[in-house]
Amino acid sequence: MKLFLDTANIDQVKEIASWGVLDGVTTNPSLVAKEGGNFKETVLEMCKLVPNVSAQVTAEKFEDMKKQADEYAGWHKHVVVKVPMTVEGLKTLSYCKSKGIRTNTTLIFSVNQAILAAKTGASMISPFIGRLDDIGQDGMELISEIMQAWSFYNFDTEVLVASTRHPRHIADAAQLGADICTIPYAVFKKLPLHKLTDTGLKTFMEDWKSINK
Ligand code: E4P
Repeated sequence: MKLFLDTANIDQVKEIASWGVLDGVTTNPSLVAKEGGNFKETVLEMCKLVPNVSAQVTAEKFEDMKKQADEYAGWHKHVVVKVPMTVEGLKTLSYCKSKGIRTNTTLIFSVNQAILAAKTGASMISPFIGRLDDIGQDGMELISEIMQAWSFYNFDTEVLVASTRHPRHIADAAQLGADICTIPYAVFKKLPLHKLTDTGLKTFMEDWKSINK
């Protein structure tokens, strides 16, 4: 499973990339607004660190989305154009496929949306599980349904589990065979931790020191 960081903060990307486990970054307009700074420069900095950087189009009509997709794709070969799951977005995804531009379909909340995006040739789809949990539905159930549907067909579209909120989401997504998880910085930092690792290491160090006095 590939691991992406869900952020527009370059320092966070540098830090997690230094662990040697980071395959990509997802940004969205809200994350970009939170960090401020120049969007293109941020994306280009990230492209130096990881091979997949999702940059979201902000236009809503196909003709304008298409122009933005061309522009972003021209910035760097690591850019993945992020397109919202709308009818105009589907047209944009088809256009990008015809031009060889990699895409990530964002705001997926149903299996039918996932299928439509896959049929356009989208490179990735992003089902948002945390936002479904937030309204009392089981977000991981959607991943399970999509993975089941995917098992019958030959879609090349990777399933990117988005809107993750805690470490259990990542473990569950892996056990369902999802291709990618995008993870907020605070959650990513929790992944290497386990209380028994800490106490076990403490004991090893103490025992080692006791024979090397
Ligand atoms: C993914 O690409 C999105 O940026 C992200 O996962 C959304 O997460 P949120 O629901 O926590 O805003």
